[in-house]
Amino acid sequence: MVILKAGIEHILSEQEPSGITMIGSLKRWMKKRDVASWRTAVAAVRREYTGEPLTEERAGDDPFSLFEKWYADAAEQSLFDANSFVLSTAVDGKPRSRVVLLKGFDGKGFVFYTNYESDKGREIEANPHVCVNFNWPESFRQLRIEGTAEKISDEESDVYFNSRPFESNLSAVASPQSRKVSSREELEMAQSRLREEHRKGMKPLKRPSNWGGYRILPQKYEFWQGRTGRLHDRIIFEKNSDGKSWLKSRLAP
Ligand SMILES: Cc1cc2nc3c(=O)[nH]c(=O)nc-3n(C[C@H](O)[C@H](O)[C@H](O)COP(=O)(O)O)c2cc1C
Repeated sequence: MVILKAGIEHILSEQEPSGITMIGSLKRWMKKRDVASWRTAVAAVRREYTGEPLTEERAGDDPFSLFEKWYADAAEQSLFDANSFVLSTAVDGKPRSRVVLLKGFDGKGFVFYTNYESDKGREIEANPHVCVNFNWPESFRQLRIEGTAEKISDEESDVYFNSRPFESNLSAVASPQSRKVSSREELEMAQSRLREEHRKGMKPLKRPSNWGGYRILPQKYEFWQGRTGRLHDRIIFEKNSDGKSWLKSRLAP
């Protein structure tokens, strides 16, 4: 324990401005230690968030344009899954979250695909109000979007389904998402049965009606930009009563 504390103090004393190198050093140092040591180290994992200022002027008047800019920045900088986001649903006052992938966006909203009979699908049917959270650590940014989810058209879902790799579609069809299954073998057998049936394209694999997309129609955006010394920028956009224009405000971090 004393050695661990000394190690962390040594690494923290390096005072890296961005903190990224510091975390790298901490990781290298911790690799020599046992996994349980991370429990002690977690409070010391710290980096400065040195994002460029998010001024009212930079935020502009259209949150969708700002989303496009932030998404492009994230896609350029992220190693993986800049399009992944946490999707929260809430039924009977009980929120539930999971990660999904953004597969389309335009002025109307944000599209992801899933099993309509999954937990999230049933929760959205019960309460279409959802919350989205993107975390883009490379650019010290977080984005929260609150809105309502609605099913996209069958045609739109078909186009996306038909663009996916065959194996991904086999899994989507074979997996009764969110249901209890007796074993992994049960799923693998269902998948290989389907693979046989549809092998060599003898019988095309069609999108099942319980799988498709949802579009999230945004009502509120919050753009969070990490800044030095934890005095971060937070700009929100709330839809005005005309249903078109947006009211922009700044929140305390
Ligand atoms: C990086 C990542 C991307 C994912 N993308 C999707 C997705 O696009 N659609 C989906 O249904 N599940 C996706 N999942 C799985 C979900 O997180 C979740 O386990 C699954 O949808 C079942 O959630 P539910 O039981 O709350 O409905 C993804 C998981 C991860 C970690």
